[in-house]
Amino acid sequence: MNKTVYVLGLGHIGLPIAAWIALSGYQVVGIDIDRNKLNDIRHNRVKIHEHFNGMHLSQLVYELVGNQQIIISDHLSRLDKKPAIFIITVGINPIENGEHDLSSLQSSLDMLIPLLKEGDLVIFKTTMIPGTCEDYIAPQLIGRNIMLAYCPETIAETRAFIELNANPRILAALDEKSWQAAAGFYRSLSPAPIIAASSFRIAELAKVVQNVIRDVNVALANELAELAELLNVDNQELRELVNVHPRVELLQSGPGVGGYCLPNALGYLQASIKETDTFKLELSELARKINQTRPGKVVQVLRQALAENGKQMENATVAILGLGMKDYCADTRLSPALAIINLLTDNGVRIKAYDPLIECCEYQVQSLPYCLDGADAVIICALQEGMKASLQEMAYYLSPPLIIIDTRDSVETWEGILLYRV
Ligand SMILES: NC(=O)c1ccc[n+]([C@@H]2O[C@H](COP(=O)([O-])OP(=O)(O)OC[C@H]3O[C@@H](n4cnc5c(N)ncnc54)[C@H](O)[C@@H]3O)[C@@H](O)[C@H]2O)c1
Repeated sequence: MNKTVYVLGLGHIGLPIAAWIALSGYQVVGIDIDRNKLNDIRHNRVKIHEHFNGMHLSQLVYELVGNQQIIISDHLSRLDKKPAIFIITVGINPIENGEHDLSSLQSSLDMLIPLLKEGDLVIFKTTMIPGTCEDYIAPQLIGRNIMLAYCPETIAETRAFIELNANPRILAALDEKSWQAAAGFYRSLSPAPIIAASSFRIAELAKVVQNVIRDVNVALANELAELAELLNVDNQELRELVNVHPRVELLQSGPGVGGYCLPNALGYLQASIKETDTFKLELSELARKINQTRPGKVVQVLRQALAENGKQMENATVAILGLGMKDYCADTRLSPALAIINLLTDNGVRIKAYDPLIECCEYQVQSLPYCLDGADAVIICALQEGMKASLQEMAYYLSPPLIIIDTRDSVETWEGILLYRV
């Protein structure tokens, strides 16, 4: 008989994980302190954009909850007295001055600690400030005869079920018994390789470094995009040619880097360095700065494009397409599109925004034609499922001349348009 698995945190990571574990035959108990999230699950209104075998996550968890394969609650209580598995998926939010808020981690521990019994296995999935497991979590759990492991998550939004099954996992644990128990649990879920890390700290660091590398890579792509423009060569073609090298992967330039993971990674690294150390992460800091300038760069290009065509930004109406923090994504946390909208509205621009999967801002309109209709320019911030306008459609609706600012290299050049790639 399988152990009961308790998943604390039913957000972007926790909810697909809970469903994935339930699909493998475990009884799952999902806990989230946010009652709105629990109501969304109960009423099939989950907006996290994941699919399993063609079925939306919302419908999937609705059915799993309906037949009690997942039991959801806003507080933690044990279903029975047998040893169980607890998976913690809450996040660490940055607050001002480089500080971080560990209150979600602490509240999970506060829920968990009074209920723990000998033989329980606790697995943390949270992306950690390196040192958190050893210095903050383990001291609260050690001595309770439980097993403790850390297994950082690498799934990308929209690919959760594919990547939960396929991505290799880094696994660190308190001791050999904990490692074997956690590895055995993961082997029961998928054949993905499990890579042993020699300490919690190195596993935490490896996870954060994976995110920093992507941030730095995008910053380089953004810098090279500006160089390509200066040298009058096509940036997308440049990237394709660069990536011909089998050991080079330049990511795509764009309007900035959003989401919960990449923009927060540098802060986690910085927080792991003692105040007394003089060491600085100069390259990663510069990369972060470059990526943060990108929404402003998009606005600058728009201003110039409008001016070249006798229009002023202050009197313009701009259509914003795609609000996700990246392509084909419904997560808007730190989305560059929203940063661009804020900059534009600060400059008096009238905005009409469209994204068929997302409801997140006051400027949103319900249809693509209405979004484009009469706009002086369109900015493609992110691609999205169910949102594709042909150039003919744009030409029909936009106010001439046809100004398109494309941050995703998604529009072919065409005689009738003034295409600006950022
Ligand atoms: N989103 C991603 O693509 C991704 C990828 C890899 C790793 N991660 C990491 O996974 C972690 C979670 O990220 P997320 O995107 O799922 O965050 P999220 O905000 O979507 O989900 C976290 C959930 O935890 C809940 N919560 C907070 N305190 C709680 C408590 N005491 N008990 C129960 N629930 C509680 C919140 O209400 C929220 O629903 C983060 O550390 C993140 O860095 C995220």
